[in-house]
Amino acid sequence: MKTKLERFTMERLSEPADFEALLRRDVREGLTATPKTLPSIYFYDDHGSDLFDQITELPEYYLTRLETEILEEHADELISRYCPHELMEIGAGFARKTRILLSAMHRAGVGDAYVPIDVSDAALEHAGAALTDTYEWLTVRAYIGDFGTDLHRVPRGGNRIVAFLGSTLGNLAPVDRPAFLAEIAASVADEDVLLLGVDLVKDESTMVAAYDDSRGVSAAFNKNILTVINRTLGGDLPLDAFDHETAFFPDSGCMKQSLRANRDVTATLSDIGLTIDFTGGESIHTEWSCKFTIDGITAELAQAGLTVTDSLTDRNDQFALIVATK
Ligand code: SAH
Ligand code: AVI
Repeated sequence: MKTKLERFTMERLSEPADFEALLRRDVREGLTATPKTLPSIYFYDDHGSDLFDQITELPEYYLTRLETEILEEHADELISRYCPHELMEIGAGFARKTRILLSAMHRAGVGDAYVPIDVSDAALEHAGAALTDTYEWLTVRAYIGDFGTDLHRVPRGGNRIVAFLGSTLGNLAPVDRPAFLAEIAASVADEDVLLLGVDLVKDESTMVAAYDDSRGVSAAFNKNILTVINRTLGGDLPLDAFDHETAFFPDSGCMKQSLRANRDVTATLSDIGLTIDFTGGESIHTEWSCKFTIDGITAELAQAGLTVTDSLTDRNDQFALIVATK
């Protein structure tokens, strides 16, 4: 029997220097563009991952609860139908909901490996240690990387369920989705199955509350991107000069999170020699959280070469777990 240490490995899919070079380029391009933007991948340092974990527990943040409900209802049936050798998960985070699938694998006696990919090494470290503790039969091969560019670098071990949960797909800009879904399709082999969790378009006030909770955790999560930039690029962006904002845009079906300057601000990022001026009222777009319809995502997946075989929803049709194959 392998020891716990032998059952958990973690590998980087790209060099830290490359990641830093990308961050410098993204921040320079984003903060000198009109309107200003920042990519949401930079939310997830250790503190950001922790804040997201707190968000999943908020009364207003219905997404995690509804997806958990769907997984609990259908995990056994999905695992016995597809008998995966391994469970791969894109943007796994702390892999809490993953336990529902792993426990179903255990009950069915199928599969022996979990393969998460995430940009947050802290979240993967936490998930890998906790899962190898609970599941003595499980090997965890974790990969630190950007799922936007690194998916094809994840080695295969056998037929897979590829899970992409939490509606993280909605964090991509709508224009970037077709190319990204094509990348996902390329990483799904003929014998694999994709489990894609998507939040469905619903009553606007429910969606707005999920991204602007009464305890201010969503606001802290949004502002954490400024802390990450200040720390990694020697910046002096004043956090108190920016207010958290969220709004729904019906044309794209997306919630859009921003940080709006509440006064004129000049800030410097000394490591990249960049000075940025903000006029009061100007905003930085920090995150998309796009919502879906079942017909819409079915068509997008078809465009990428994937066929939807099932769409499982909660009892009020607010969230969907899409099952798709090649
Ligand atoms: N799957 C979990 C976590 C979702 S939070 C759930 O459903 O609750 C989004 C996760 O994706 C975070 O863990 C974050 O670190 C990761 N992430 C965000 N952008 C990423 C990117 N471009 N590449 C890799 N991981 C990313
Ligand atoms: C990870 N992702 C799906 C979350 C979402 O709902 O867009 C991130 C988040 N941002 C603010 N609150 C939660």
